[in-house]
Amino acid sequence: MNIVFGITSGISIYKIPSVIRKLRKDGHNIRVLMTPNAKKLMNPIIFKVASGNEVYINDFSIHNPLLHIEIGDWSDVFVIAPLTANTLAKIANGIADNLLTTSFLACSGKKIVFPAMNVKMYDSQITQENIKKLKEYGVLVIEPDCGDLACGYSGKGRLPSEDKIIGIITRDIYEPLKGKRFIVTAGSTIEKIDPVRFITNFSSGKMGIEIAKYLYKKGADVLLIVGKTEVNIPEYITHIKVESTIDMLNAIKNNLKDYDGLYMVAAPVDFRVNNYSEEKIKRKGSLTIELIENPDILKSLRKDFKEKFFVGFALESKNGKQNASLKLKEKELDYIVLNIIEPDFNPMGNEENRIFLFEKSGSNALEFKGKKHKVAEWIVNKTLKLEEV
Ligand SMILES: Cc1cc2nc3c(=O)[nH]c(=O)nc-3n(C[C@H](O)[C@H](O)[C@H](O)COP(=O)(O)O)c2cc1C
Repeated sequence: MNIVFGITSGISIYKIPSVIRKLRKDGHNIRVLMTPNAKKLMNPIIFKVASGNEVYINDFSIHNPLLHIEIGDWSDVFVIAPLTANTLAKIANGIADNLLTTSFLACSGKKIVFPAMNVKMYDSQITQENIKKLKEYGVLVIEPDCGDLACGYSGKGRLPSEDKIIGIITRDIYEPLKGKRFIVTAGSTIEKIDPVRFITNFSSGKMGIEIAKYLYKKGADVLLIVGKTEVNIPEYITHIKVESTIDMLNAIKNNLKDYDGLYMVAAPVDFRVNNYSEEKIKRKGSLTIELIENPDILKSLRKDFKEKFFVGFALESKNGKQNASLKLKEKELDYIVLNIIEPDFNPMGNEENRIFLFEKSGSNALEFKGKKHKVAEWIVNKTLKLEEV
C-alpha cells in the first residue's frame, strides 16, 4: 500500500517513527510530509531513516513543482498523525498554506486523520465543528484516546497506540466487509476445580485472533470473545475476556443480536466441575473430581438465532470428515472447519494449520494448509465469498 504520512507539530510526534518503521517492515511504501513547525519538534532525518524515503517540508522546489498534486495521486491512503488543532482547522476550511495542507486538499483518495491535543483544545466548540466538517467531507477522523496527557491534564486527546494506528491505516482501502458485523471466539475456556486449579485444553487462540484481525482488515466490525490465551490481542480489536464455557456462551448470547454472524473458533472445555471447592483442596492420597457436560455453544445458540451466519470449528482425532459433516447438519451451521490431530501434527498451539472446509450446500470438503494468518484469510475469503483465493 502507498501511504502518505503527514506529520504536524503535536507532542505525540515521538510515537510516529516507530509506526512508520513497522508499516515499512510490513511492506508498505511511505512518503512523509511535515509541517515546518513539526520540524522544530523532531528532526526530519529520523523520518527519512524510518521511511527510507525523502521527507518533504514546504518543498515547492523547481525540481518537483507539482509534488503537492503528484503525491496525493500516488497515495492509496493519506494519513495525518498527529494532527494538531491548527492543521485540523486549516484542512477543514480548505486552507492550503504549506506543502502538507496543499497536498491534503489536492488528494481525492482515502484520508485518515488522528487529532491529538490538550483536552480543552479538543473539547472546544471550534475544534468539534472542524471535526464535524471533516467527517462530512469524507475524511475518516479517528477519535483520540482518553488518559493522562503530556500537558499534565487528563481526558480525551491522546494519540492512540502504535498498534491501533497501524490497524486503522492498513485496513483494506475498499473495505469489502464495511457494514458487516461478526463475533469471533478464540482460545480455550477454563473450568475451576478450586481457587487455584482449573481444567483447560491446549488451544492457543492464534487461529481465532487471526480470523478477527482479517475480518477487521477487510472492514468488518468485530467483537472478539476470548477465553484463555497468551497471544497478543491488537488494541484495535474490541474484545471481551471470559473464563468458563458458560461465560463464553452468555457473552455471545448477550451480543449476537447486534451482529450478522459468528466464527466459533474457540475450543470451549466440554466438561465442568460439579463439586467446585471454595477452599484449596489439600493433598489426600487420591482425589475424584466429578465432571458434568457443558452446553454445546453452537447448538444452544442456533435455537434463538435461526437467521444468523454460523461458522463452526471442529477438532477431531478420529473419523474427522464423517464427524465434521455430521456436526455441520446437527448444529445447522453454514460452514464447518475441520482440524485433524494426526500422530505427527497437532494444530493446537501450532504456528501452522491444515484444515478442511465443509459448506452446508456443498458435498466436497476443500483443503488448505499454511501459516495460521494465511489459513485465516483463506477461511474468511471462502466463507464470505470475498474473492477467489
Ligand atoms: C512542545 C509543544 C507541544 C505541542 N503539542 C501539541 C499537540 O499535541 N496538539 C496540538 O494541537 N498542538 C500542539 N502544540 C501547538 C502546535 O505546535 C501549534 O499550534 C503549531 O502552530 C501547530 O503547527 P502545525 O499544525 O503547522 O504543525 C504544541 C506546541 C509545542 C511547543
